[in-house]
Parts: sequence; C-alpha cells; structure tokens
Amino acid sequence: MKIIHTKQVLSDTLNQLREQPLKIGFVPTMGALHAGHLRLLEQAKVENDIVVCSIFVNPVQFNNASDLKHYPRDLEKDIALIENRCDILFAPSVEEMYPTPPEEKYDFGKLETVMEGQFRPGHFNGVAIIVKRLFDLIKPDTAYFGRKDFQQLAIIRKLVKDYNLNIKIQAIDTVRKNDGLAMSSRNKLLSEQARKEAPFIWKILSEAKTLIKDKNPQELSLWIKENFNNNEAFTLEYIQLVDAETLEEISQYNKAKNIVACIAVWLDNVRLIDNITIK
Ligand code: PAJ
Repeated sequence: MKIIHTKQVLSDTLNQLREQPLKIGFVPTMGALHAGHLRLLEQAKVENDIVVCSIFVNPVQFNNASDLKHYPRDLEKDIALIENRCDILFAPSVEEMYPTPPEEKYDFGKLETVMEGQFRPGHFNGVAIIVKRLFDLIKPDTAYFGRKDFQQLAIIRKLVKDYNLNIKIQAIDTVRKNDGLAMSSRNKLLSEQARKEAPFIWKILSEAKTLIKDKNPQELSLWIKENFNNNEAFTLEYIQLVDAETLEEISQYNKAKNIVACIAVWLDNVRLIDNITIK
C-alpha cells in the first residue's frame, strides 16, 4: 500500500496509473477503522483494479467542537489494518485539504432539513465539501458508502446527480457486532458499562420491525420512544420512519415503496445512529 499525504502526489500517482485502462474504487473514511470500513474496502477490491482509501477527520462536518476533539484517531493502527486491503491510502492534513477556510455551499433541499440535518446543522454541507473535493481529486469509477449512515448516502447520491459526476455510488449493508450493535468509530468512546447497554438500540429496532402489522407508523414511533424513555442509559434524539427515497416522514406504510426507521440516541455522552429497513 502506498501512503500519500498530498493532493499533488495523489493526482500524479493516479494519472500515471490511468495510462492503462483501470477501474478505481474509492472508500472515504475518517479513520479509527473497523470491520464496517473493511467491508467497504473488500467490496471495492472485488470490483476494481485499484482501491483508494482516504482517512481524514474532516473538521468542517463537525458541528460540535468537543466531538471533533474527542473523535478517535489512530493512523498507525489504521495503516496496519488496511495494508493488504488497499492500494493507496490518502491521509492529508487539514492544511492540505483546506489551505483557506472552505466556502462552498450545497443545497440538498429537504434531504438535509430532517434527522441528522436538523440536529447537526451544517453537518451535510461539511460532508459534501470534503467528498466533492475528494471525488474531483481521485475521479473514481465507483465510491463506496455504508447504509449505516443512511441519510449521508442519500446526500451523496444527490451530490453525484446534481453535479453530473460520472461516479457510481455503491451502498454497503451495515456491519454489526454479534450482539447487533452497528460498528462505529464512536463505539470506542463508550465506557465498558455503556458498551453493554448499546445493543439495546438494534434490539428495539428489530422488535419494532416485527410490530408493523399491529401498529400504525405513529404508534410504532411512540412504542420505540417509550422503550428508550424507560431505559435511563439512553436519551433519544429522534426516531423517524421515513420514505427511503425522499427521507420524508411517512404517515402510512403504503405511502412509500421502502421505509426505513432512523434513530439517533445519546449513550454515555456518545451520539450513536442506526437504522432498519422496515418495509
Ligand atoms: P466514517 O464514519 O469513517 O465512515 C466511512 C464510511 O464507512 C461511510 O460510508 C460509513 O457509512 C461507512 N460505515 C461506517 N460504519 C459502518 C458499518 N458498521 N457498516 C458498514 N459501513 C459502515 O462517514 C464518514 O466517515 C464521513 O462522513 C465521510 C464520508 C468520510 C466524509 O468525511
């Protein structure tokens, strides 16, 4: 694996490689890599000749200074983990990606006003700024994103559509621990006790899915809310049953082709998100 820290070296390297017709797969990450990230890399390897992974804790997508400060970072460990799974690692500094404060403003319409967009103002604009810059630099044939960040995936698809980018977006199912907890870099921040509580999120989402025959969407949301309100380890930020395409909240199950229940909770001062396809 070649480790590259500058845009210039990255584009020179890729231009040289492109002298032959090669398929390039790209997996953007913020590091603290886990089996979820590795699954994306694995799929990229199957479908491409060259796999590029980026590790960059993108300051402009953090709406909370303390979250940015405490975000787990371990480049050495990440390198050891992906050494044989990827061809090029791009790990730029903040100055390299943002020599001056970025000013791009993206408009994702309704997609960014709900859920993560509502509770993390500016977050998706920050995601779009870095992803667009990385796409322009790397020009991948295919880029890989996890369904764990369901709303982010919708935003990236819209970015590609709005800017007519010639990049295929490949979605990868959420990788979970045996107890159901979705893999996340933020899981590393949980105390031992909180880590034991965390599988409750997936347990409730899975149970909710089995209840759609008995409860309408409002009742189902309420049932999920009550379960979290009755568990003092958690503070529920939102639960929304949304149309998988538009991310608009549904009032009836037959109003959307696919429905996803998206959740954000606080556990031990750590914010965790997850989702489940209920239809
Ligand atoms: P990060 O949280 O590091 O995630 C990188 C990619 O891994 C995302 O596409 C995310 O959805 C995927 N991923 C995370 N956990 C996963 C899991 N358990 N199973 C499957 N995929 C999983 O998402 C970001 O970074 C950033 O916002 C980024 C897109 C890199 C822009 O900065």
